[in-house]
Amino acid sequence: MSTLNYQERIPNNVDLAGNRQLQRALEHWQPRFLNWWKELGPERYQDADVYLRTAISVDENGWANYGYVKMPDYRWGIFLADQERDRKIGFGDLYGQPVWQQVPAEFRSVLRRLIVTQGDTEPASVEQQRLLGLTCPSLYDLRNLFQVNVEEGRHLWAMVYLLHAHFGRDGREEAEELLARHSGDADKPRILGTFNEPISDWLSFFMFTYFTDRDGKYQLKSLAESAFDPLARSCRFMLMEEAYHMHVGENGIGRIVKRTLDVMREVGSEDPEAVRRAGAIDLATIQRYVNFWFSSSLDLFGSEQSSNAASAFANGIKGRPDETSFEDHLALDQVCDIEVPDGTGGMRHEAVPMRNAMNEVTRRAFIADCEGGFIRWNRLIQKSGFETRLFLPSPRFRRAIGAWNGQPVAPDGSIIAREAWETRKGGWLPTEADGAFIRSLMRQVVEPGKVAGWIAPPARKVNHLDADYEFVKFH
Ligand SMILES: [Fe+2]
Ligand SMILES: [Fe+2]
Repeated sequence: MSTLNYQERIPNNVDLAGNRQLQRALEHWQPRFLNWWKELGPERYQDADVYLRTAISVDENGWANYGYVKMPDYRWGIFLADQERDRKIGFGDLYGQPVWQQVPAEFRSVLRRLIVTQGDTEPASVEQQRLLGLTCPSLYDLRNLFQVNVEEGRHLWAMVYLLHAHFGRDGREEAEELLARHSGDADKPRILGTFNEPISDWLSFFMFTYFTDRDGKYQLKSLAESAFDPLARSCRFMLMEEAYHMHVGENGIGRIVKRTLDVMREVGSEDPEAVRRAGAIDLATIQRYVNFWFSSSLDLFGSEQSSNAASAFANGIKGRPDETSFEDHLALDQVCDIEVPDGTGGMRHEAVPMRNAMNEVTRRAFIADCEGGFIRWNRLIQKSGFETRLFLPSPRFRRAIGAWNGQPVAPDGSIIAREAWETRKGGWLPTEADGAFIRSLMRQVVEPGKVAGWIAPPARKVNHLDADYEFVKFH
C-alpha cells in the first residue's frame, strides 16, 4: 500500500511526490479546476462554511472526515483503493493473466475514451445542479447537495489523474477538455445527453441522484473489474462515495412521499388538485418524474446488442458488475434473451450472444437495484391506507436508444398506436404545467431545523448530528 500524503498540495495515495513531472502537470491543472469550480460550481455559497466529509484515506475509518470547510478549500484528492496483490484479469479472453499497471498500446484509445466519458459526467452534474442551493428546502438538504457536488469534483480528479499519469500528451489535452465542455453549452456540450439537461428543481435533483447516480454506480462497478488496475482501484474507491449520492435521492423522494401522504390524510383525498392546493406534490406527478428519469437513465447503458461492449469484455477492459458472482467468466457459449419489436405492433424474443449483450446485462442489474426504494415508498403509502402505488415503468417505455428507440409503448410495457402515444404521453411524463407547479414550490428555507412545506423533515442524522444542526454557516 502506498503511503498517504495528505499535507501535499494535492492530497494523494499515489506517491505523487515520487513523480515530479506528473506532480507538476497536475499542479498546473489544479488552478484551472478551481477556476472552473468557482465559475460553474454551486452559485453564491463559495464563502459559506459547509459541514462536509472529506476523504483523507482509503481505509475504513479515514475516508469520511467531517468538519466545516469553505468549498473552494475542499481537499480534492487522488485516492485509489489499495492494490490487491497478484490480482488477475477476472473475465474475457485474457482471463487469469496478470492485470495491467500500464495501458497496453492496442487498448489505449478505447480506454482513454471510457475514462473521458466517465470523467465528463462528474463535472457535468455539478454544472447541472449549480443553482439548486438558491431554492434548498432546508440547511440539511443544502449540505447534502454540496457534499454530492464536491465529491463529483473529486471523481473528476480521479479520472484526470488517470489521464495525466497514463495517457501522456493526449491525456493532458483530454483533461483540459473536461473543463472546456459545459453542460447545456450550444458549442461544447457534455458528451452524454442526460448531462446537458439543467436540474432546476429539487424533485428532479432527488430523481437524478436516485436514478442517474445509480447508473454511475453500475458503470463504476463494471470498470472496477477492469484489467487496467489503476482504473479498477480508482473506481472501487469512488463507489464508496457514490453510495451516499443514491442515499440522498432515496431519502429525498421518501420524504416527499411522506409529506404528500400527510397532506392526503389532512385533506381527506387523493385528488392531485387538492394535494397541490395544500402545497404538496401529488403522487401522480411523482410517478411522471419517475417515468422520465428512469427511462432516460436506461438509455445511458447503450444498445442491447453492442459489438463494442463485446470487445471491451473480450479484452478485459470492462467487465460485468460483480463479475465474481458469475460462474462463467468467458461468456462464450451463452445467450441472453432480449425482447425486440416485431415490426407489426408486437414483440418477439431474440437470443443474443452473451458478450454482445453486456450492456443489457448491466442494465438489468441496475433495474433490479432500482426496486429497493419503491418497496419502501409503497410501504409508506400502504400504511397510510391509500391505494396508489409508485412503480418503475417498463424498460421499453420512452426509450431513445436500442431496439425500443422511438417505439410507442405505455408505462406498463404494452405497445400502443402512435396516435394513442401522442394523446396519452402528457399523463405519463412531466408536463409544462407540472414543471411550473414544482418550480412554484421551490422557495429557499435556510433557518436551522426548518423545512419547506412540500417535503417531510429528515429522519436521518449527518455524522450523529441532528437535522436542526447549522450545517451551513453564511457570511
Ligand atoms: Fe461521481
Ligand atoms: Fe454521484
